[in-house]
Amino acid sequence: MSGVNEIRSTFLKFFADNGHEIVSSSPLVPRNDPTLMFTNAGMVQFKNVFTGVEKRAYQRATTSQKCVRAGGKHNDLDNVGYTARHLTFFEMLGNFSFGDYFKERAIELAWTLITKEFGLKKDKLLVTVYHNDDAAAGFWKKIAGFTDDRIIRIATSDNFWAMGDTGPCGPCSEIFIDRGEHIWGGPPGSPEEDGDRFLEFWNLVFMQFEQVTPEQRVDLPRPSIDTGMGLERMASVLQGVESVFETDMFRHLIEATSAALGQGPGKDNIASYRVIADHLRASSFLISDGVLPSNEGRGYVLRRIMRRAMRHGQLLGAREPLMHRLVWALVREMGQAYPELVRAETLIEETLRLEETRFRKTLDRGLAILDEKSVGLKKGDMFDGDTAFTLYDTYGFPLDLTQDALKSRGISVDQASFTDAMDRQRAKARASWVGSGDTASEAVWFPLREKLGATEFLGYETETAEGVVGALVKDGAAVDQLKLGESGAIVLNQTPFYGESGGQVGDIGVMLGEGVRFRVTDTQKKAGDLFIHLGTVEQGTLKAGTALQLDVDHARRSSIRAHHSATHLLHEALRQVLGDHIAQRGSLVAPDRLRFDFVHPKPITPEELARVEDIANEVVLENDEVTTRLMGVDEAREAGARALFGEKYGDEVRVVSMGKTAREHGTNALGWSVELCGGTHVKRTGDIGLISVTSESAVASGVRRIEALTGNYARKHANDAIALAKTAANELRTSVDDVPARIAALMEERKKLERDLSDARKKLAMGGGASASNGASAAGVREVGDVKLMARAVEGIEMKDLKSLADDGKKQLGSGVVAIVGVTDDGKAGVVVGVTADLTARYNAVDLVRVASEALGGKGGGGRPDMAQAGGPDGAKADAALAAIEKAMAGA
Ligand code: ALA
Repeated sequence: MSGVNEIRSTFLKFFADNGHEIVSSSPLVPRNDPTLMFTNAGMVQFKNVFTGVEKRAYQRATTSQKCVRAGGKHNDLDNVGYTARHLTFFEMLGNFSFGDYFKERAIELAWTLITKEFGLKKDKLLVTVYHNDDAAAGFWKKIAGFTDDRIIRIATSDNFWAMGDTGPCGPCSEIFIDRGEHIWGGPPGSPEEDGDRFLEFWNLVFMQFEQVTPEQRVDLPRPSIDTGMGLERMASVLQGVESVFETDMFRHLIEATSAALGQGPGKDNIASYRVIADHLRASSFLISDGVLPSNEGRGYVLRRIMRRAMRHGQLLGAREPLMHRLVWALVREMGQAYPELVRAETLIEETLRLEETRFRKTLDRGLAILDEKSVGLKKGDMFDGDTAFTLYDTYGFPLDLTQDALKSRGISVDQASFTDAMDRQRAKARASWVGSGDTASEAVWFPLREKLGATEFLGYETETAEGVVGALVKDGAAVDQLKLGESGAIVLNQTPFYGESGGQVGDIGVMLGEGVRFRVTDTQKKAGDLFIHLGTVEQGTLKAGTALQLDVDHARRSSIRAHHSATHLLHEALRQVLGDHIAQRGSLVAPDRLRFDFVHPKPITPEELARVEDIANEVVLENDEVTTRLMGVDEAREAGARALFGEKYGDEVRVVSMGKTAREHGTNALGWSVELCGGTHVKRTGDIGLISVTSESAVASGVRRIEALTGNYARKHANDAIALAKTAANELRTSVDDVPARIAALMEERKKLERDLSDARKKLAMGGGASASNGASAAGVREVGDVKLMARAVEGIEMKDLKSLADDGKKQLGSGVVAIVGVTDDGKAGVVVGVTADLTARYNAVDLVRVASEALGGKGGGGRPDMAQAGGPDGAKADAALAAIEKAMAGA
């Protein structure tokens, strides 16, 4: 038993056999701590269990925890490669008691494991305790049989362990091994303690306190235990090698590097091989936990680690990007213990390759400048900070890379002038904001952005996290506090809340702290990447500096994710059905619907729409994983990722792919649908459930819009439609299937009834049912001189039918004049005059109709001599109009 993987499992098994729950490592990005950059110890995931805020089903646990100590309180980046024991990424083996056993049992367990299981010799071991911890010293005497000279009392913070500036803490006892006189170094507390001879490999922390603020420390509810053993250090001890880099795992990684370079390490360049091996582990694990390189926060620490390794690759003469070619070896070594590494293998390779390809473009030039500007410097000199800033700003050299490059020559960088140069550049950037035309109410955000930096967005990986309030804003101005009932905006150092962008709406949810609750009703992004949480204080008073538990409304976010992924699928399906001209013009991704606008010259037919829906749903059912990678914007475009026309993208973009590449019509090597997108998406397409397109319409000339629903919204929509159909079928006294036929039959019947009704009305009108003008016969026919005049006023007849009535009248008379006034429901009138052909020489229908129209309060009228029509506003004058015609005839 001495391989790294065996040591890990032996440790976990030993504690499991002693009643400890084996708990998986938590991610490197801490979910439950707002102040930590990376998980830096096994106890981080249990922080709230120690303080009593969180309860677990067990009181004893054991873990092998992924840790990164680069950036933040515990930062070992500068030492890596140059000592035998420092690593940026390492595994911490730990056992934990949450108010169960305490010092004595912890020491007993530790002693049994290292002497019995690991077989370490007592005479090589020694321990430290906190200077006043007599109890711990007593237990070591009793259990290990150590004499006082082997129990070294340390008064400094070295033996008082704290996770960060706040959190659980307590005195600790560290276990050391003496590796022999041939190695330089002295015991802890001695002037030579920094040497590698006495190696600390296990730290037992007696958790007793909680540091609430930097000034205030309180007792934990129950004394607890937290221990941390460096797996790699233990391996170096058990394998009898001097450095962690000589253990089996690192040897294999260094062999892989040698194979990739075609040369092995020598005395002069071994540090570079070690840096590469360590940084490969740190970068790969960070990427697999969702960190991607960026210019701020965690992403920048990752970038620094990656670029530092890449420079060492360059030093070793690598002509091509190197790091991505080593990932397979790491996955082989560690993939079994950490399956997330296997899952993210491609993403890790791509991210490393992209970063190295891009960095190489400026690396040579930057190194040349570095050489040129440092040529006359000797040990103890300072390198000019302005040049270091140029290297940073123009050539992408993080400061620590420049420092690392000069370190072996004993030259340091003038950090003050570096900071000055950085400040000057910020001032310039600020001056350019002033001219950017932002309204006064928006101006508040830019200084905050500068002061607080970008908000770290955690929401791709998690919906809950802790964050610290960096600033509060009310009515456009920064304030110290928001009181109960007040509304305003909160800026935090990090957040899982998505800020509205790219069509996706902002998240809502709740934030909780000691005695305070803030309800988030919207999240927006300002000044680029400052996330602002808008809402109202529901309890207590919210102050800057407060730590809050941040909870995104989970159900709503899940639904948003489904709608966003569905938008991508519909986009690609539309392109396949309608053609390549489809270009996105806008979109809305909300929890309860999606909208997608795109260029297309004509309406989409129902058949086309059905195909689009079918195709998108096929990809849903394939239930393939949705993957996100970071790519250079040009590279992404070349790979065929769809981008929003006219949108400004940064140098690096997130590329979201879904669906099998091998699908029919799949043209893209990255996936079936591939888009540049900063939004949040489902893990697998099956999470969308169902996509249902609900409408298709025009929004502008040449721009169409489809709206659609997913998941439960789609299901409910379908259910509502079915319920409606059932109700309709009930009303129609038929089955749902027969509804269309039944409606067609009813429509036909209705048309026929309308026709019958119209005929009946006409008959009624001409048969004398309606009022006839005074003095007329029953049929309304009278003699005017020797000419017959049929004069009628009718109601309930449509105007368009008056002419056919007049024709009928003419037929009835054989020879004569027909005048019909129809009065409409709203009291207006229409009049038609017909003259039989034999009489048109004597009477002109047009003249007669004009006379009638005048009587009706109208003017004009038109037609032919045998048939003319006119109208007038005053239907009450119908009889007068007929009388006027009679009079005109008599006078003619
Ligand atoms: N939390 C302790 C450490 O990291 C065990 O050393």
